[in-house]
Amino acid sequence: MKFLIINGPNLNFLGIREPEIYGNNTYRTLKRTVARHAKTRGVKVKFFQSNHEGALVDAIQRAYFKKFDGIVINPAAYTHTSVALADALKAVKIPAAEVHISNVSAREEFRKISYVRSVCVSTVTGEGFNGYLHALNDLIEYARNGKLPQNNEKTACQENKR
Ligand code: DQA
Repeated sequence: MKFLIINGPNLNFLGIREPEIYGNNTYRTLKRTVARHAKTRGVKVKFFQSNHEGALVDAIQRAYFKKFDGIVINPAAYTHTSVALADALKAVKIPAAEVHISNVSAREEFRKISYVRSVCVSTVTGEGFNGYLHALNDLIEYARNGKLPQNNEKTACQENKR
């Protein structure tokens, strides 16, 4: 099975941007952490990051032709604005999991709105980098059994200190 891990705007600045919210670890560390976890779960992962909404839509559409089994997506700021991303996820019908490093529901009002939530099978927020592993686990279970794990235990993540 293969999964696409999509990250939206400013997530390439992890480790630089607002470390009090997003931590000190970099995007590179995030990729390494997810790749290691994927290996232990026996699945393949591919990463895509862009600061551009259209490029993110293109990546979702490519996933359809490349027959990905699931998409983990942190749309970042586009979560709160993008009908285009929600439509793309709906169009490709690939099971998707929405992930946010921070607890978006405990921040500004505008971060409580998510255009992608209703088209995702799972949403994970406020678990730092671990959230990506949690989301991937959800999608693996969903791809195998058509449902989410019963016991949504957090997954161990060595490098994420948050
Ligand atoms: C984020 C939360 C968004 O509100 C914000 O715009 C981001 C990152 C998160 O991972 O916590 O860029 O998606």
